[in-house]
Amino acid sequence: MKIVSLFSGAGGLDLGLLQAGNTIIWANDIDKNAVETYRNNIGNRIVLDDIKNIDIAGIPEGDVVVGGFPCQGFSQANRFRLLDDERNQLYRFFYEVIKEKQPYFFIAENVKGILSLGNGEAIKQIIADFEEAGYYTDLHLVNMADYGVPETRQRVIIIGQRRSLGKKILFRFPLPTHDKNGQNGLKKWVSIREAIGHFPDPDTPNDVLNHEYSKYKVEYRDYTAHRQTDPDKPSPTILARGNGGGGVCAIPHYNGIRRLTVRESASIQTFPENFEFYGTKGACYRQIGNAVPVMFANILGDELMRIERDEKI
Ligand SMILES: C[S@@+](CC[C@H](N)C(=O)[O-])C[C@H]1O[C@@H](n2cnc3c(N)ncnc32)[C@H](O)[C@@H]1O
Repeated sequence: MKIVSLFSGAGGLDLGLLQAGNTIIWANDIDKNAVETYRNNIGNRIVLDDIKNIDIAGIPEGDVVVGGFPCQGFSQANRFRLLDDERNQLYRFFYEVIKEKQPYFFIAENVKGILSLGNGEAIKQIIADFEEAGYYTDLHLVNMADYGVPETRQRVIIIGQRRSLGKKILFRFPLPTHDKNGQNGLKKWVSIREAIGHFPDPDTPNDVLNHEYSKYKVEYRDYTAHRQTDPDKPSPTILARGNGGGGVCAIPHYNGIRRLTVRESASIQTFPENFEFYGTKGACYRQIGNAVPVMFANILGDELMRIERDEKI
């Protein structure tokens, strides 16, 4: 299918969709490092600009629009209409692209916290807005470890289907392939050691791309980015930002000595080892922490390919 990608970042989502056989016809991000990474690994279809400067009429028509909109003003949703709040311009842009372009499907990715913002009012409004724009919506809270990603990252995925395609929901949301204990005929969750155990010590000479790490001291305090990692379990969520201060916070390696390298973080997010990240170390960690795991995106992409092949749309 032909895909228009908003808030594309370094392109974790886009790469997975591409790997499945879909085509990206247009992409955008405001972050110049992320765009450089995208251009060098995925392709030249990405426009570097603030989305607020983009004229929707100039965006090509795609079969699917994808993106994860940042949600600054959503905690006020129980008092204000999301679309009227100035801080929600990015959400409004995503909504307007869907409303004006009327793709067959949209895929929106967001953090788990979106479900509780404004006491649950934000997500209700989002669903209502997309219904009003002409879409059925199907919402899933996903743990990426259940799909073979070596990380217990939880994200909300909203699938929209244009109402004019009929009542039958064509996008069959992929079923989990993995389980915490490997029960019910599913494979066991993939551990962090299985994902990164083969990398050489970054302090010895090596030719692994982006194999450098934050020198921020490892100290175990019981909060995000400062928790001990168990080599036999999937990694905790690879973060885009530290705790509150906004600094970079790569999570500790299970050896307890140092933090994960950029490459190790990327492998946990299932980026291929030849995918090179551009910008400072901090910028690279941010691009990786922001991404949809490539492996999960590929599974979503497979379903788009199946629809293209099997359903008459
Ligand atoms: C969660 S990330 C998306 C990651 C991407 N889906 C992936 O899988 O790699 C959100 C992106 O929105 C971008 N962004 C934030 N504000 C923007 C704006 N005003 N215009 C365009 N992009 C923006 C950020 O730079 C960031 O890369």
